[in-house]
Amino acid sequence: MPKQPDSLLSLTTFNGTPLSDDMALTTFHSLMDRHGYVLMRNVPESFDPVAFCKGLGDFVPQYTGVLVGDVTPEPGMDEFYHAGNTKPLYPHSEGYDFEGLPPRYLALWCETPNTGAGGETTLADARTWAESLDEEDRTYLRERIFEWQTTDAMRNLGLDLHPEHPVIEDHPDGTIVRYSFNNLNRGDDERIGPLLASAKEYFEREHVAIQYERRDMLVFDNWRMLHARNAFTDTGRHLRRIQIAHRSAA
Ligand SMILES: [Fe+2]
Repeated sequence: MPKQPDSLLSLTTFNGTPLSDDMALTTFHSLMDRHGYVLMRNVPESFDPVAFCKGLGDFVPQYTGVLVGDVTPEPGMDEFYHAGNTKPLYPHSEGYDFEGLPPRYLALWCETPNTGAGGETTLADARTWAESLDEEDRTYLRERIFEWQTTDAMRNLGLDLHPEHPVIEDHPDGTIVRYSFNNLNRGDDERIGPLLASAKEYFEREHVAIQYERRDMLVFDNWRMLHARNAFTDTGRHLRRIQIAHRSAA
């Protein structure tokens, strides 16, 4: 059995009223600092997910230019490695194919949950994985610059990006771990394969699995957490999605 999420915030109080915005934000940040993600549950009708995300930072455009996207099976996408179908996704960090900083947060909330098995968003802490490695391996992941690439679905839409980044990058506001099992170009480097496999095994062992109910909202720190998705069958599953830029602490 996968682990259940343990960073949960109820947006409805024990009296059945909406939690105040100030309290919601304070609890959100303390859970985020501790666990790297927050799953908001018991979300009242009055809660505005887009406004909540605005409070966290500027939105980063998605591949098509939309700022508030949809994750639901799309026609013609079945043959690709892509969120817009019903297949599983490998663990990854979002935005490894961006030239600059990856989004700080990713927010996903549920319009229509799926029925039947699967469809969980899965999450694990990549910094804990990095800390579990030998010092030489960590240094190698900081110093070796790799070429990354967009998914085959995006290449098919004419977006073919090849940014260069290390796997681990130190930023004044926190360590960034970029990760893709299948879209980091390994070239003839024999050292990276076992490390990518080690992260994947770590993810398989340690991940929490999130099954959404309607209006549940997940926000995670994308510099710290890897995410993936289990396959599902119900094509009515519909999430919405926002990428949020890093805001400097200063
Ligand atoms: Fe993703």
